[in-house]
Amino acid sequence: SDGECIGLEEWKAKAKVGDSEHPFIMVKAVVLGAAGGIGQPLSLLLKTNPAITALGLFDIVNTPGVAVDLSHIDTPAVVVGRLPPNDGLKEVLTGADVVVIPAGVPRKPGMTRDDLFKINAGIVKDLATGIATVCPKAFVLVISNPVNSTVPIVAEVFKKHGVYDPKRIFGVTTLDVVRASTFVAEIIGKPGAAPDVVVPVVGGHSGVTIVPLLSQSSHPLPADLAKDKFDALVNRIQFGGDEVVAAKDGAGSATLSMAYAGFEFANKIIRAVKGEKGIVAPSFVALEADPAGAEALSKDLGAKLAFFSSNVELGPNGVVKIHPLGKLTEAEVALVKAAVPELREEHPDGAFPVLPLL
Ligand code: NAD
Ligand code: LMR
Repeated sequence: SDGECIGLEEWKAKAKVGDSEHPFIMVKAVVLGAAGGIGQPLSLLLKTNPAITALGLFDIVNTPGVAVDLSHIDTPAVVVGRLPPNDGLKEVLTGADVVVIPAGVPRKPGMTRDDLFKINAGIVKDLATGIATVCPKAFVLVISNPVNSTVPIVAEVFKKHGVYDPKRIFGVTTLDVVRASTFVAEIIGKPGAAPDVVVPVVGGHSGVTIVPLLSQSSHPLPADLAKDKFDALVNRIQFGGDEVVAAKDGAGSATLSMAYAGFEFANKIIRAVKGEKGIVAPSFVALEADPAGAEALSKDLGAKLAFFSSNVELGPNGVVKIHPLGKLTEAEVALVKAAVPELREEHPDGAFPVLPLL
């Protein structure tokens, strides 16, 4: 067999059969890069979500085993794992509602995320071509780095195929949000409060483009927090990825915390798809997804950018509203000022970046 744990027809049939005890609309989630460091734990977490009735796993290696393993878990999702031959990507993507992409190479010490561009841009381009062809209406959640560039690549591929909808393509920056919650809870001396700490983290997903708006934290920092402590906190949120890369010492970058973060964001999308209102989360999106929101945001930024991660309200069709930055402190204005040229550099004149591989 080429890797399915049950026959494709059987899978499709099962995934379509509602379960009267679980009155949810059916959701098919797909993970591309599902056998990797992020892909496996992310697939595990998605398998635990009872709202997901079908889970498709694709990678260039090992998905048959991962799929059979996960298929023994007693949750509703019917799991199929496929490899490239015999239209594996097409079969996995057919009927997908949400496609998460953690496929690609991770950093080693001494590398920037941009150093991954050459390899990952090609991988993401190929996978995006599959999505644009097979399930162009799916929500696409891009994890592969550098997110600031891979999201525009997906957008470009969708444009080429005439199926571009900026409301449905998201760069996953949730790990920055998760880190901010954890580190702020530590600083305020309440690590147990971490799940309730909400800090908007805006900008992009690399170094100084990561801008935590700590003055808007649900749990304010101590008023007498020393400047060096504040700066160290901002730096830790911006460079948290490096902390993991250094600790893993050549064995890759964040995988488990990223799987958790990717699951958090995917769940928000799924809740929004199911009609829940008022779900807001930062995500790196094309600002044309909400022209009015983009207009207000560009006033905050002092520049027109093509892509930016701000708080985004989600609905059944994706982006409902891109929120402005809100009231900023002087320190936050300085962080935004440092982020904008970096994001502009990646997207000159607010246009899509030059994509040598396309
Ligand atoms: P990994 O090497 O452990 O896993 C990547 C997987 O992608 C592998 O299983 C590989 O076989 C697969 N793959 C490669 N080419 C493929 C293709 N064409 N089609 C399908 N699958 C393919 O790496 P990882 O640690 O899981 O990281 C994956 C990516 O996620 C990296 O680019 C990393 O930088 C990025 N990342 C992003 C964030 C974020 O916050 N957005 C956080 C952590 C890691
Ligand atoms: C992270 O923030 O942990 C990821 O983007 C992986 C990396 O390269 O740091």
